[in-house]
Amino acid sequence: MSTTADEATFTITRTTRPTPDAEREAALAAPKFGIRFTDHMARISWNVEEGWTNRRVEPYGPLQLDPATAVLHYGQEIFEGLKAYRHEDGSVWSFRPEANADRLRRSARRLALPELSDADFLGAIEALVRVDAAWVPTVEESSLYLRPFMYASEVFLGVRSAREVEFLVIASPVGPYFSGGVQPVSIWVTTEYHRAGPGGTGAAKCGGNYAASLLPQQIAYDNGCEQVCFLDARTGTYLEELGGMNVFVVLADGRIATPEQSGTILEGITRSSVLTLLAEEGREVEERPIALAELRAGIEDGTIAEVFACGTAAVLTPIGRLAGEGFDLTIGDGSAGATTMALRERLTDIQYGRAEDTYGWMHRLV
Ligand code: PLP
Ligand code: COI
Repeated sequence: MSTTADEATFTITRTTRPTPDAEREAALAAPKFGIRFTDHMARISWNVEEGWTNRRVEPYGPLQLDPATAVLHYGQEIFEGLKAYRHEDGSVWSFRPEANADRLRRSARRLALPELSDADFLGAIEALVRVDAAWVPTVEESSLYLRPFMYASEVFLGVRSAREVEFLVIASPVGPYFSGGVQPVSIWVTTEYHRAGPGGTGAAKCGGNYAASLLPQQIAYDNGCEQVCFLDARTGTYLEELGGMNVFVVLADGRIATPEQSGTILEGITRSSVLTLLAEEGREVEERPIALAELRAGIEDGTIAEVFACGTAAVLTPIGRLAGEGFDLTIGDGSAGATTMALRERLTDIQYGRAEDTYGWMHRLV
């Protein structure tokens, strides 16, 4: 789909009741994940006759939905997650946003939603972050989390793809995803529930995948763990990913392994960036099936030194404990591993502009 620069122009309607400066500054001093939102949102509407239309930035506020709106019944919804980072000179940048635009199109195809061009995806983010630039925090480990999403807005109860769709971007100043900060987290491996199966929606970023993860996630919490880890639905043998993150294993001999992109896991942009950074270091990386049995044995005999989670929200987060029915293991001595933390620093140095962006990953917004 092609969009000219003119078509991609967003009409800006500013709120008449902006958050007072002191209140915003207080919210930015210690932001928590996904609780507080900025003053505006970007929005584009779609219908089957006109395609994408009415590009605008408008005051942040509730959506009025008819009770028969399709998304409320059949869950035809997809989303993305990326961050805007404040650099020392005050400029604001996002990280590989074209990759998020691309993944949103892949998710759209799977969920029978209309595809959005790069120009519209990037245009919406740029327009919103320019209007709400004062909301990009400056404290360490913080950023403005951007949540683009698309849903079936047609009022119709028949089961078919919607003829009216809305795309929005909202923004939330955030700190570390886990409440303990950048500390090792505990993972619960569920053998009872699966997130995705062959031919399903596992590789799409759709709300339904997360809905399916909430019960096992609750069981993880009940077992003192912050995240749930899923195994493959076909055999129940191999690691797939966490509820909201991909997973990597660091062997004591320096090799690194991560589950391959099997069509049932989300193709993480952090995952792909970590693979690039590891290749740059000349590290040996294997994208392959990793059996839970191999992981348990390796943690027990010390041949597995570190395990970490990665994703936009989590960045790189060390995993200190792996538990499930009949096992509870501490990884290494339970503290953050050196390889994990070095990779995390390498990635965040690029994101926050402290290191040269040799891969052209950063995209200036303001
Ligand atoms: N896997 C799942 C299920 C996720 O929700 C996420 C987060 O978006 C990821 C992996 C990591 O993806 P990314 O690095 O693109 O944020
Ligand atoms: C993200 O990292 O952007 C996600 O969507 C994952 C979720 C845990 C917030």
